[in-house]
Parts: sequence; C-alpha cells; structure tokens
Amino acid sequence: MSKIAVIGSNMVDLITYVDRMPEQGETLEAPRFAMGCGGKGANQAAAAALLGADVLMVSKVGDDAFADTTLANFKRLGIDTRFVERVPGVSSGVAPIFVQENSHNSILIVKGANAHLEAADIDRAEAILRNCALIVLQLEINLPSVYHAIDFAHRHAIPVLLNPAPAVAGLSRKHLSQLSFLIPNESELALLSEKPVNSPQAAAQAARSLVAEGVRHVIVTLGEQGALYVGEEGEWRVDGHKVQARDTSGAGDAFIGCFAHHWSQDGNIRKAMEQAVAYSACSVTGLGTQSSYPDATTFARFVAALKTGS
Ligand code: RIB
Repeated sequence: MSKIAVIGSNMVDLITYVDRMPEQGETLEAPRFAMGCGGKGANQAAAAALLGADVLMVSKVGDDAFADTTLANFKRLGIDTRFVERVPGVSSGVAPIFVQENSHNSILIVKGANAHLEAADIDRAEAILRNCALIVLQLEINLPSVYHAIDFAHRHAIPVLLNPAPAVAGLSRKHLSQLSFLIPNESELALLSEKPVNSPQAAAQAARSLVAEGVRHVIVTLGEQGALYVGEEGEWRVDGHKVQARDTSGAGDAFIGCFAHHWSQDGNIRKAMEQAVAYSACSVTGLGTQSSYPDATTFARFVAALKTGS
C-alpha cells in the first residue's frame, strides 16, 4: 500500500453549539459543548486513515493533557506517529469552534506547539518521506516550514498537495508553481488568485490563472455545490449531494483526506474527487470534525444510499 505523509497541524477542538453568536459584552448561554480531535493536518490524516490509507504524520504536540489525547487518537487510527514530537513548556494547538443552528461554523486557532514544527523536523523524516506517494500540507504550521516541505517534495519528485487553509495572502509564487495539487475553497482561491470568486464560473477563471502560473492541478471545493477541477487534464465539475447538514466543521479536511487516499491508490483524479465530494457530504451529517468522519464501511453504506436515493 502506498504511504501518504501529512506534514501539518493537530489541534484539540473545543466545540460550542450556539443558537446565535453573542454580541460584544454579552453573556449568552449555549446549549451544548463537545471536545474532539481536530487540526487541519490531523483531520486530513484521520480521514485518509479511516478509509484504509497508510498515513505518516509529521507534527508537534505540546506539554499538556491535550497532547496525550491527540497521540492516543493517532494511535487508535493506526497513524504512524514516529515523527510526532512533544514540545516542552508549550501548549498543544487548540481550536475554539462555534457552530450555529444553520450548521455553519466560526473557528479560532491557537497554533501552540504547531508553530514549533521546523524544517529540521521535516529533514529528520527524509528517509520515509522519500518513499511516500503523496505529501499533504496545510497552512496551520509556519510558512517557512511549508515552503521547506514543498522544496523537499520538488527536489525528490514526490507529488505534493497544498490545502491553503487557513487563507494566507501573498503565498510564494515559486512554491505554488511546484505543487502537484492546490485544493482551496472559494475564499482561499479568491485570496490566492486576487480575483473575485462568487460563482463556479468565476472559480474556474481564478483557478485557470493559477494553472497558468504552473500549478498542475487546481481543485476548488465548492461546499454543497461539489468541487471543480482545472488543470492539465482539462476542466470538469463534480456535483454536490443534498444532505441534511448538522455541522460543516472539518468538511474541507474530510474532502482532502479522502481525495489523498483515493488518488494515491490509482492516480485517477476524477474518481478521487467524486469520492471526496461524497465523503465530505457524509461528514456534514454528523457533529464535530473527526468525530463526523465515517470509516470505509460506513462510507460505503452512505454512497450506496446516495445511489438509491434513500
Ligand atoms: O478545518 C477544521 C479544523 O480547523 C478544526 O478541526 C480546527 O482544529 C481547525 O484547525
């Protein structure tokens, strides 16, 4: 089985379900709270692992009980943690998340130990990274480390996927041009391309400008509208699925983890996108981030039900 490496963040999600967000200076009672394992990197690794991928995580946890929770979770999922290190005297990454009744979310992140993942940590994993089918990156670790990972992947001709989240303006064009896959959502795409993205047509236009700058494959996640591909294989759209959404937190990460798993199996981009659109639709029907990700069996049942319309 080909190995996927995720070089990136882990967080503990502190999720409060709210009827509405409080105004400044207001105290408001919220109906429900849940804690779960999150962080964009860890979520993507978890989704891939749940579907059966062999996943290596390169990440940093802090010096607290949250670190134990995260490490135990990686182990439970069968994720290779030999390059997940503790940083003494530093907190783990945490993400207070607020989910409103309409299922939409607002997220704050405190990077904590994630800000201590350095180029040297990536180099330490070189021998195993060189044998990976895909390296997956996000932007919850420091940018120089992300650039170092892209340079490393480029130097060794390892396919590299960047999910540019959370959105950061002014990413290095040289590094963007070295990517195999760039998978932004609409707002991340608008920031990166410096073009308005308010429709699938506008998204295609903006994605084309990044392909013209050298990215081989741009995949734009469009939420409930599915996803769009623009790149050296042409252009197409995979339609979304109508589901009863309860919590959209982590749906983008579900897409990336599922895409990475399927693409690394056979290199079929369209098929991997179809699976990823369905997997992220399934994830929004549950609560929380990783807690809403199905394993391969549950996902197969969800896909079968989509086909029969039940
Ligand atoms: O993409 C969702 C994730 O963003 C959450 O799990 C949270 O930890 C933040 O990293």
